[in-house]
Amino acid sequence: MVPTQKVFIKNFGCQMNEYDSERMLESLALSGYIETSTADNADLVILNTCHIRERATEKIYSEIGRLKPNKAENPNLTIAVAGCVAQAEGEEIIRRQPMVDLVFGPQAYHRLSDMIAASRQSPQVELDFNQDEKFSVLPAQRNNKRVSAYLTVQEGCDKFCTFCVVPYTRGKEFSRSVQEIYDEAKNLVQAGSREVILLGQNVNAYHGQGNGNSSWSLANLIWKLSDIPQLERIRFVTSHPNDMSEELNVAFRDCPKLMPYLHLPIQSGSDRILKLMNRKHTANEYLDVIKNVRSYRPDIAISGDFIVGFPSENEEDFQQTMDVVHKVQFVKSFSFKYSQRPGTPAANMKQVSKEIQEKRLAKLQSLLFEQQKLALSDSIGKVSKVLFEKKGRYPGQLVGKNEHFQVVHAMAKDELIGDISTVCYTAASSNSLEGSLVV
Ligand code: SAH
Ligand code: SF4
Ligand code: F3S
Repeated sequence: MVPTQKVFIKNFGCQMNEYDSERMLESLALSGYIETSTADNADLVILNTCHIRERATEKIYSEIGRLKPNKAENPNLTIAVAGCVAQAEGEEIIRRQPMVDLVFGPQAYHRLSDMIAASRQSPQVELDFNQDEKFSVLPAQRNNKRVSAYLTVQEGCDKFCTFCVVPYTRGKEFSRSVQEIYDEAKNLVQAGSREVILLGQNVNAYHGQGNGNSSWSLANLIWKLSDIPQLERIRFVTSHPNDMSEELNVAFRDCPKLMPYLHLPIQSGSDRILKLMNRKHTANEYLDVIKNVRSYRPDIAISGDFIVGFPSENEEDFQQTMDVVHKVQFVKSFSFKYSQRPGTPAANMKQVSKEIQEKRLAKLQSLLFEQQKLALSDSIGKVSKVLFEKKGRYPGQLVGKNEHFQVVHAMAKDELIGDISTVCYTAASSNSLEGSLVV
């Protein structure tokens, strides 16, 4: 089909939103839309939103406001709000910003073309939660050209941590079938991908339909995907400590395509806070999980997520978080001030002041940053395998990732994009490595 309309999509939030945006673009292409990089010449603007923290949500309303001149200039412009804010706020978005034409949640975007058509008559709000429908209706063909591609295998969450909106915005835990994922991975490889990153809010809780009616674990799925020739690397995010298994540890040791990188959030090192968070594990149990996986794969890189200033957190609790960080040595981390989310249990608990939150976050981040820098500088003089993904900022330079998911820059010919090359590291910046090809 000859493209006749332009779509601009702006993405917020986690990798799952990025995956959803890619799939929206792919299905819109079938209805004659081509992607554009600015709202200024677009016929359709989609804001794919995140609700995880208060600031993320507020940002959306100012983003919508910024589209006012575009709508004034082009009254046919369709403005759509998708993703987790859409799911959480629904009609309220159109009430606050009447120029929005379309609001739809993360489980409804396979009906996008119909919704756009209907929005020409009246504003549309679509918050349906039928999780298995989306994947069976979306076109199977992937035209993603990424060397490293996201592939959602599991969505939603049944864990209900007391701070988190995900169970409300993404719904209950749902796993796609092995066959469906296998076919999609094959499609991605055919389109040029060499790595897939399996996505799920609780990816290691994966339990999709395997052969017949049997339920397969994430480890089984990884072994199955590793059959695909030309699929060189497999990773998965985000895992929950309580869903780590012996089988996954074995896969880290024995499956050559499964890369030695594990993102395993702990949130807090205080057992009292972990209990209030409803994480259902203690700090020591988390440390045991790490010890265990390291006994199978000693070089595995561990990254984590942290929340500081959770309701009632005191200095001692915070110190316990710092202690865990010292014990684990994280290669990369994401840390946030606790943000009160309406409707979640922690929103009604005794809050910690913003000043204390900020002080603790600065302290924690400086330690985490030191660990990240140490992990990078530790590689200098060493050699490992890098999958080059794209051109770098400088002429003749490529960017890729090594097995441990560190970003690597090296001077190399464009033909090496999509290939795995041996690189010797010569320098480290605060978040990436520089190296030269070993030939
Ligand atoms: N499923 C993953 C995390 C999904 S949300 C897990 O269980 O670990 C991604 C991260 O956002 C979380 O790990 C947490 O660190 C952070 N986060 C979630 N809700 C938050 C809130 N209310 N305030 C601050 N950070 C939050
Ligand atoms: Fe949110 Fe993760 Fe907890 Fe689920 S396990 S409620 S996604 S933080
Ligand atoms: Fe945000 Fe929704 Fe992802 S709230 S973090 S976009 S699941």
